[in-house]
Amino acid sequence: MDIRSEYLNFFKSKGHEVVFSAPLVPEDPTLLFTNAGMVPFKSIFTGEIPRPNPPRRTSCQTCIRAGGKHNDLDNVGYTARHHTFFEMLGNFSFGDYFKKDAIAYAWEFVTEVLKLPKEKLYVTTHENDDEAYELWQNFVPKERIYKFGDKDNFWQMGDTGPCGPCSEIFYDQGEEHFNGLEDYMGGDGDRFLEIWNLVFMQYERSADGTLTPLPKPSIDTGMGLERVIAIKEGKFSNFDTSLFMPIIEEIAKICKKPYVYEKGASYRVIADHIRSSVFLLAQGINFDKEGRGYVLRRILRRALRHGYLLGLKKPFMYKLVDKVCDIMGKHYTYLNEKKDYVKEQIKLEEERFLNTIEKGIEIFNDELKNTKEVFSGEIAFKLYDTYGFPLDLTQDMLKEKNIVIDEEKFNALMQEQKNRAKNSWKGSGDISISGDFKNLIEKFSKNEFVGYEQFNQKTKILALLDENFKELSHLDQGQIGWIMLEKTPFYPTSGGQSGDSGKINQSEVLATQKFFDLNLSKVKACEKFETNQIIEAKIDLEKRMQTARHHSATHLLHHALKKILGDQVNQAGSLVEYNRLRFDFSYSKALSKKELKEIEKCVNEMIISANKTKIDFMTLEEAKKSGAIALFSEKYQNEVRVLTLGESKELCGGTHVENTAEIGSFYIIKESGVSSGIRRIEAVVSKAALEFTQGIIEELNDIKEELKNNDALSSIKKLKNELRNSKNELRNSSQIKLDSICINQTQICIQKIDDENIDIKNLIDEFKNKFEKSVILLIQSKNEKINLAAGVKNAPLKAGILVKQAAIILGGNGGGRDDFATAGGKDFAKIDQALQESKDFIEKELCK
Ligand code: ALA
Repeated sequence: MDIRSEYLNFFKSKGHEVVFSAPLVPEDPTLLFTNAGMVPFKSIFTGEIPRPNPPRRTSCQTCIRAGGKHNDLDNVGYTARHHTFFEMLGNFSFGDYFKKDAIAYAWEFVTEVLKLPKEKLYVTTHENDDEAYELWQNFVPKERIYKFGDKDNFWQMGDTGPCGPCSEIFYDQGEEHFNGLEDYMGGDGDRFLEIWNLVFMQYERSADGTLTPLPKPSIDTGMGLERVIAIKEGKFSNFDTSLFMPIIEEIAKICKKPYVYEKGASYRVIADHIRSSVFLLAQGINFDKEGRGYVLRRILRRALRHGYLLGLKKPFMYKLVDKVCDIMGKHYTYLNEKKDYVKEQIKLEEERFLNTIEKGIEIFNDELKNTKEVFSGEIAFKLYDTYGFPLDLTQDMLKEKNIVIDEEKFNALMQEQKNRAKNSWKGSGDISISGDFKNLIEKFSKNEFVGYEQFNQKTKILALLDENFKELSHLDQGQIGWIMLEKTPFYPTSGGQSGDSGKINQSEVLATQKFFDLNLSKVKACEKFETNQIIEAKIDLEKRMQTARHHSATHLLHHALKKILGDQVNQAGSLVEYNRLRFDFSYSKALSKKELKEIEKCVNEMIISANKTKIDFMTLEEAKKSGAIALFSEKYQNEVRVLTLGESKELCGGTHVENTAEIGSFYIIKESGVSSGIRRIEAVVSKAALEFTQGIIEELNDIKEELKNNDALSSIKKLKNELRNSKNELRNSSQIKLDSICINQTQICIQKIDDENIDIKNLIDEFKNKFEKSVILLIQSKNEKINLAAGVKNAPLKAGILVKQAAIILGGNGGGRDDFATAGGKDFAKIDQALQESKDFIEKELCK
């Protein structure tokens, strides 16, 4: 029995629209992950956006509970039913049917489709919910209906958001199998298994805790797929089912130790965590130091620690990816597409962690030496936080030594970290918008974008809003506000592409954005605008074209990256403006110069090929079948727009060139890392590319001019060489020792310098700088010539004369200023004589 399709078909037959599982990263910025089936519909429940038609939906939603309000991470592996990743089947009513039908549908599905024996089913209701209590009695005898309080029977999505009392269906797995102390209805044991939760959405909780009734009471339900499969397969643990056993068996094969349930927590942890890791990575989340990537890192590291306990000290998790894809790839085909990339990323993270695990154990052992009864909460937290050791693991390691952990300190640090994680989370998603959108949606539902073909449009103003999105009857001259046009040619910022600007009559359009289905343009009014007024809207065509060229180029770039670096490359974000593009993608290492050159060449070849752009509309399934690339971060409508640019085929709603040749040329200006496993390329095309290349050429010409050489490169190399030599000489010169004597308070130095590499002029300067009164003469043989230099400071002598006399002795000549002079000579045999005679001359002159 395929429970997923049985469920969806059952609710389809009850008038529900079947929708695909939304991404694990929710649109809702208050949540870390999609943690329940209702998350994608939150704004419908709260009435922020109008209800769809029909107002009933059903889905099989992939969920993660590993952080935030619903966090099951630390239970996983130790119970039969907790998971970090799971699938939730749900049926939703948006102000349509309520408790009566929700209960009847659930009962019918459980007893007639799943065919679970009625006598094994129990239900719970909220203690104040008499209506539900009564309704259940139509199906279940009173003694099997339990009432519980808020702790068990009140459900809410997060600290804020829709919520309400709930009613749960339990399945009794039998006393003969479970007879622990906790195995009673409402206890923590596994005998009574909760399989389905029916939430009667009645309130919205705000940040200060108050409950406001929802506009229309609604239904949100969640049935745990793994649990139902376990019951249907006759297993007492979700981990014993066909969803997990092939993974567990593979782990046993790798560690060469058979799996035994009672001692199998580590196997189960690994089997659960590899599923979360594969889904998160395949959906574009990567290991990181914060946010969602940090949760992923903790999940994988927890699994690795358990692998370590099984004796697995080398990367092994990546070997399990195939199994996950075998089991889940039929339903989630993107897993197969991303398999190689996921494996590579997991292996890299395993290598990173295995380098730290030994260190963690070392820290643990060091601390243990200093511990008598209570192990430091700080160290336990450090092991948890930095080295991925869960508290229970550290506790396990301490158990045999009868040592406990300072849990108070640990918990305090944990709380601090949670607050930090939450704070760092807040606001990092989309801005949360409040305003009069609901009215507008109800009145107009949406406005039409005509700007793929129309760049000028005469149209009507449907609505006006101020900067805070409050509706206005008119916009005054000089005021800034938002205009909703009946037919708008302005493309809103979306899919990474920046929105259009232009003019509405004579007023400037500063930006265009989409809020739900409302496409609004922000204007600075230079006249008064009123609703229903007919205006002329005109986009800034030049800017639009430049933006389109950059946008089309990102598609070509994505294609080139896959072609040159491999299929594991996936888009992780993009920004397209009129003068630049930025493209983030998953790849584990920096790109080489050669790769960048090849990518640039490949994109330019696709441009030169002058391919005509093709745009087709089809269903998402058809699009995927045709090989079009879809992104996880996007929520697609049932009909999607497929853009073909040469060999590139992607889903995209953006504005593009009609022929790749219009892009002109493409240059990469920078390649850098964004976070672990994510690289970024920045590039320019068309006019921006021309400006970029012209800038480079101009700069090069300036350089040539400055160097006075057309061959700038060899000129620079030469300069660098000279600089290096000069530096060496300088370094050497300060190492030469000059001997001097003092006559009449004047320091005198007359010396031969043997080192050819030394610049004697520098030595003269240095010497003169050192003394108040000085006379110096240096003689150096260099390049088969003799160099002479002399310097005089505050002494009754002339350097020019001094150097000339010595040069003449050496068969040469020279002269210069009174304080500094140079000369040359060639008679090497007379150097000593020249030195002696110069010395005599100086002494004589100074003693006069
Ligand atoms: N949203 C409800 C839950 O997750 C159905 O249990």
